[in-house]
Amino acid sequence: MNVALITGSAGLIGSESVQFFSEKFDIVLGIDNDMRKNFFGSEASTEWNRKNLESLYKNYKHFNIDIRNQEAVEKIFKEYNTDIKLIIHTAAQPSHDWAAKEPFTDFTVNANGTLNLLEYTRLHAPKAVFIFTSTNKVYGDQPNVLPLEEKETRWEVAENHFYFKNGIDEKMSIDQTLHSLFGASKVAADILVQEYGKYFNMNTGVFRGGCLTGPNHSGTMLHGFLAYLMKCAVTGTPYTVFGYKGKQVRDNIHSFDLVNMFWHFYNAPKKGEVYNAGGGRFSNCSMLEAIKMCEEITGKKMNYKYADQNRVGDHMWWISDVTKFKTHFPEWTWKYNIQDILSQIHKSLH
Ligand SMILES: NC(=O)c1ccc[n+]([C@@H]2O[C@H](COP(=O)([O-])OP(=O)(O)OC[C@H]3O[C@@H](n4cnc5c(N)ncnc54)[C@H](O)[C@@H]3O)[C@@H](O)[C@H]2O)c1
Repeated sequence: MNVALITGSAGLIGSESVQFFSEKFDIVLGIDNDMRKNFFGSEASTEWNRKNLESLYKNYKHFNIDIRNQEAVEKIFKEYNTDIKLIIHTAAQPSHDWAAKEPFTDFTVNANGTLNLLEYTRLHAPKAVFIFTSTNKVYGDQPNVLPLEEKETRWEVAENHFYFKNGIDEKMSIDQTLHSLFGASKVAADILVQEYGKYFNMNTGVFRGGCLTGPNHSGTMLHGFLAYLMKCAVTGTPYTVFGYKGKQVRDNIHSFDLVNMFWHFYNAPKKGEVYNAGGGRFSNCSMLEAIKMCEEITGKKMNYKYADQNRVGDHMWWISDVTKFKTHFPEWTWKYNIQDILSQIHKSLH
C-alpha cells in the first residue's frame, strides 16, 4: 500500500498536496491542528479547508494533532510504517513578524516539529521521500545588499548583475544576516532536513519558497500577502504598505506549481538537496504593481495607506532562480503566472 503523509494539510500547500496526491496514493494522511487560528485569529483558521478535504477525498484521513506531540506523531508512523512512501512537511508557524511574539512557540513548532517528523521517518519509513517547505528567509536580509535601482513601480537589480536574468540562486550565503526569529527557526529545520539526507542517506528535499500563494490561502495581515491583499481589495478593508516606497518585489508561485515540483522530486529523489522555489521571472510583482492589478481585477480603488517603516528584515527584491530545479527536472515548468493567481483568488472570494 502507498501512503502519503502531509503535515499542515489544511493550509495552503498542505491542502493542494492532499488534492494532488489523493489521486496518486491509496491513502493520504493529514496532520493539522488548526494552529493557524491560534497564530493569527479566526479569519486565518484553516478548519473550512479541513472539512473540504474530508468531504472531497474519500481516501483522506485527518489527524487533529500537534506536530510537537511526539507520542501522537510516532503512533501514526508506527501504524503505517513502511507503507508511508512520501512525507510532505508544511506545518509551521509561517510569519516572521509573529515569531518575535512567542519565540518558544515559533521555534518548537518549526524546528522541533521538523526534527520529530524526520526522526520518526528514519525509524519507521527510512526509504520514504521527505519534502520540506523551507523559505527564502533562510537567506535573511542578504538580498538587500544587492545593487538595486529604483524604477517607476519597483526596485530592480542592476542589469549587469549575475542575478538579473533569472533571480537569486541557492549559492547565496545564509550566514551573518538578519533573519527574524522565524528565519532562524526555519534555518534550523532546513539544515536538519539536509542533514538527514547527507548523514543518514535519506531521500530529503528542501524547497525554499518565495511567496507561495493560491486561492486556498486563508490570507491574513501577517501572512498570505496576495490572498490578503485581494481580500482587502474586494471588501474595502484598509491595507497598509510598509516601507520601500511600496516598490519591494516578490515572486509568487501558485500552490499547484510548487506541489507539482514535489511530484517530480518524489519520482527521482535526491539526498538532502536544496532548491529555491518561486515564481521567478515568470511570476512576480511589486506591492504597487499588485495593488494596481487588484484594482483592475475588482474594478475598485483600493483603500490603502503607506507607512515609512519597513518590516524588520523585509526583502526589497526577491526573485527565485529555479534553474537548479529545472536542470534536475527539465519537464517541470510553471503553469500559473501572477495574473492567473490573482484572478483565481478573486474568483474564490465570491
Ligand atoms: N505562504 C508563503 O508565502 C510561504 C513562503 C515561504 C515558505 N512557506 C512555508 O511553506 C509552508 C506552508 O505554508 P502555507 O502558506 O501553506 O502555511 P499555512 O499556514 O496556510 O498552513 C500551515 C498549516 O499548518 C498548521 N499547523 C501549524 N502549526 C501546527 C502544529 N504545531 N501542528 C499541526 N499543524 C500545524 C496550520 O494550522 C496550517 O493549517 C510553511 O512551512 C511555510 O513556512 C510559506
